[in-house]
Amino acid sequence: MRKYKVGIIGTGYIGMVHLEMLKRLNDVEIIAIAEADKNHADEVGRKFQIKKVYYNPEDLIRDTEVEVIHNCTPNQFHFSLNKLAILEGKDILSEKPLSLNSAESAILMDLAEKNNTITAVNFCYRYYPVVQEAAARIGSGNLGEIRALMGHFLQDWLFYDTDYSWRLDPKYSGKANVIADLGSHWCDLVHFVTGRKIVEVMAELHTCIPQRKKPVKAGQTFGAAGNDSEFEIVEVPLDEYASLFIKLDNGARGNFTTCQVAAGHKVDLELKIFGSQQSIEWSHKKPNAIWLGNRDKGNETFYESAQLQTEETRKYAALPTGHPMGYHDAVFNLFRDFYQAVGTKRDKKAPDVKLPGFKDAHQIMCIVDAAIESNQSGRWEKVKY
Ligand SMILES: NC(=O)c1ccc[n+]([C@@H]2O[C@H](COP(=O)([O-])OP(=O)(O)OC[C@H]3O[C@@H](n4cnc5c(N)ncnc54)[C@H](O)[C@@H]3O)[C@@H](O)[C@H]2O)c1
Repeated sequence: MRKYKVGIIGTGYIGMVHLEMLKRLNDVEIIAIAEADKNHADEVGRKFQIKKVYYNPEDLIRDTEVEVIHNCTPNQFHFSLNKLAILEGKDILSEKPLSLNSAESAILMDLAEKNNTITAVNFCYRYYPVVQEAAARIGSGNLGEIRALMGHFLQDWLFYDTDYSWRLDPKYSGKANVIADLGSHWCDLVHFVTGRKIVEVMAELHTCIPQRKKPVKAGQTFGAAGNDSEFEIVEVPLDEYASLFIKLDNGARGNFTTCQVAAGHKVDLELKIFGSQQSIEWSHKKPNAIWLGNRDKGNETFYESAQLQTEETRKYAALPTGHPMGYHDAVFNLFRDFYQAVGTKRDKKAPDVKLPGFKDAHQIMCIVDAAIESNQSGRWEKVKY
């Protein structure tokens, strides 16, 4: 059997999710990792018996045995490492957001196109079976014309002033934190599920905790509240709260709020879409169901099902009906489609899956840029695709 030789860069929180989900794919062999924290790199290499452990990501990318790169580094490194990987002829699965801004993501999109690179960005929420189902139903016209939408993505892991992450530092995150970090996922869901584009935004970005106690020793993403006695006081210029008013390309209106200091909300991601025939709603708190709202008959709840879903989305609901799938499975679904596309490229055939590629992720960066611009101008801003 064909085995794709894979290298993972960055083995922090999400890098370990990549590693574990790649282990579920029979046609993949993880031959290398690159991790800046040497002790952690050695430990992961030993534990998962990975034959090559690099401390420098460029060394991994230039390794001629590695065919596919998973880039799981902080945002600041996405552009340079993805660019080098394209130029070295690798296919790439990158973490989101694709870059620090749309100027960088445009370069990556063009370069990937020129080099025939298979690309994907880990917008994993669209790979829950019923999210795929919602997109398929809207695509076949069940909702009618989309009139309005709303949603949120709320978390609380930056609630205390002792919570700190590289995400709050412009050196690693650019000009935006939560609107890029969580907002990118929500905007991707909107594009994917509705099949429409966000064309204009009016945004407010806000820093709720402008001074934080940054532990001298860096903590883990989503770690427990820091109680380190050793910390430095740092100014935080980036948002942990953002709200957007939205116009879609058909004139539909929407609004969205995201926040990382919302006590009690862990991964509270929600999208409600109101059409001229029906509403569809999905919440990550009950990720295995979509709610269908009707005006003239009873409302319905549809649960993920390999038997009952639209034919094209059944493969995402792998378990017998009634066994709920989860976050790991959504990531796995994305990876499986990605390696299917890699396979068709090796066979010199056209890809037969629709991935969230660099082009889609570039469009999301354009929305993030428009939100930053609108926050500064105090006006509606067009998204410049
Ligand atoms: N798709 C998702 O649902 C999802 C979830 C979480 C994070 N992410 C994204 O994944 C990326 C990483 O986030 P995280 O939460 O895993 O962060 P993290 O801080 O937990 O992990 C980052 C890891 O990268 C390593 N690293 C840093 N610079 C490096 C370099 N130049 N070369 C090699 N290793 C390097 C760090 O030592 C650390 O181990 C971010 O872009 C984030 O937005 C996506």
